[in-house]
Amino acid sequence: MNNRFEDFLNKHSETNWLKALTDVLPAIHEVDRNAAQIWFGFYPLSLYRYLQTAEDKAVAVQKFVMQGKYELKDQIDSSHTFLYGHRFWKEVKDEISNRAETFNSENANLTDEIKQIAKAAADKLKVSESLTVSIAAVGLMTLTQVGIDAFKNAAGRVTPPNDLMKKSPDQIVSQRAKDDGQGLLGFLKTINKQWTVRYDENSANGKFKLMDDEEIASGAARDQSQNWLAKDPRCGEGVIPVECRSAACGTCWVGVLGGAEKLSDVAPRERKQMKIFGYQQGDEAKPILRLACQAKANGAVSIVIPPWNGVFGKKIYANVEDVELEPATTSAAKLRETISSATENN
Ligand code: FES
Repeated sequence: MNNRFEDFLNKHSETNWLKALTDVLPAIHEVDRNAAQIWFGFYPLSLYRYLQTAEDKAVAVQKFVMQGKYELKDQIDSSHTFLYGHRFWKEVKDEISNRAETFNSENANLTDEIKQIAKAAADKLKVSESLTVSIAAVGLMTLTQVGIDAFKNAAGRVTPPNDLMKKSPDQIVSQRAKDDGQGLLGFLKTINKQWTVRYDENSANGKFKLMDDEEIASGAARDQSQNWLAKDPRCGEGVIPVECRSAACGTCWVGVLGGAEKLSDVAPRERKQMKIFGYQQGDEAKPILRLACQAKANGAVSIVIPPWNGVFGKKIYANVEDVELEPATTSAAKLRETISSATENN
């Protein structure tokens, strides 16, 4: 049975949530400002609600060609390890659980709830509130999508920060802004420049090299240092899942934690396809949700790879005209065929 706090959270649409997130953004330390927006892009409330109320969820999942771990209930403690605020997860989760027990307000609003949770946790932890706002917002949305019982029952396990994430928030921000040196006389180099793409700030090995002006997915495919397929069945070519390499399937979407301004502008095809996929890209020329097979880098960037992909824009957001998808199959070739035919015709 829902409690009053859940009822309150459930009253809000995805638009309300994104508005609340926008309201609290200035209060979030820069280290987590993109990360919080990326997280909300990775776990859209509208998609969750659609699947929950679908007559046949399995059919809907197949129709949306969904692959990977798209449900928060399977990753309550782990979906947000790329946030600096993840280290405060246990305390924030406890504050949210307490709030759910005692909530009794007629005039509550989402923005204030996020801020209150963040403040209570920050006071306990004796850290700046600017470091707990992002994880408080993420925690409240997680509760909304998993329900109070699963939320409370999760262990609250924190993955200890490692590598770049062990540094201070300001150091992380400045590290993300840095480009690779190009060696002695590097300033004379016009060709053969190389850039580092970090895909896991918690791992010293979580990076690969990219040639100047190369698509992110191409650099990822050259890195065969690990058995990517064993880690994620979507990863046939590298750490970033890819299928079509032509903005036709939506498999390769990524969030950009740092360096979005060093990526190529979104071209009309990527723009249109992101709408078809249902990924909330934002209208800027250099947004923080990109297709790795389209975004070319002219500097070092830090990205995060979502654990799932799908094609649901038309049904969920109704902002695309006439895209019909056939049921997905497990065959990559068939998947590619299905999606490209569904999108090419429109
Ligand atoms: S690999 Fe298909 S959209 Fe990038």
